[in-house]
Amino acid sequence: MPGTHLGRLAKLVLVAACALAAAACAGQAQSPARRGEPARELFQRNCAVCHGPGGEGQQVGALAVPSLGAARTVGSTDERLSQQIHDGGGQMPPFKYTLTDEQIQALVRFIREDIQSKGEKGKG
Ligand code: HEC
Repeated sequence: MPGTHLGRLAKLVLVAACALAAAACAGQAQSPARRGEPARELFQRNCAVCHGPGGEGQQVGALAVPSLGAARTVGSTDERLSQQIHDGGGQMPPFKYTLTDEQIQALVRFIREDIQSKGEKGKG
């Protein structure tokens, strides 16, 4: 009975397509809604767990998370910082799946203008 078989297949494809569409919609529904979200909140939600609420860095279990006000970060280019946030590396997870490029840029600005403008002096 090829008819029934095709029918089932079509149904399966439809179900898969719906699931995909739902996932895409869920993802989309989040981005624009959060677009205006201040970088500070993005940072608190995604980064503070490791880098600390003020980006000062901390020990997380066995992981030594660096301060974002450290000389090494201050001396890095914006490109390198956004690449690190985008792709992760050195035990930091990538954020390219959860944050938009825009949000990553906002976080780099937040690191420059907020974290590095104060935390800097006392720290290396
Ligand atoms: C799971 C813990 C963890 C989370 C979450 C995390 N980081 Fe990191 N981050 C690290 C570690 C560890 C390093 C050091 C990587 C290395 O040594 O190469 C790092 C390095 C960095 C660097 C590069 C510093 C430098 O000078 O090389 C930047 C910038 C950075 N993180 C920003 C962020 C931002 C912004 C977020 C949130 C979107 C974030 N991190 C979330 C653990 C984390």
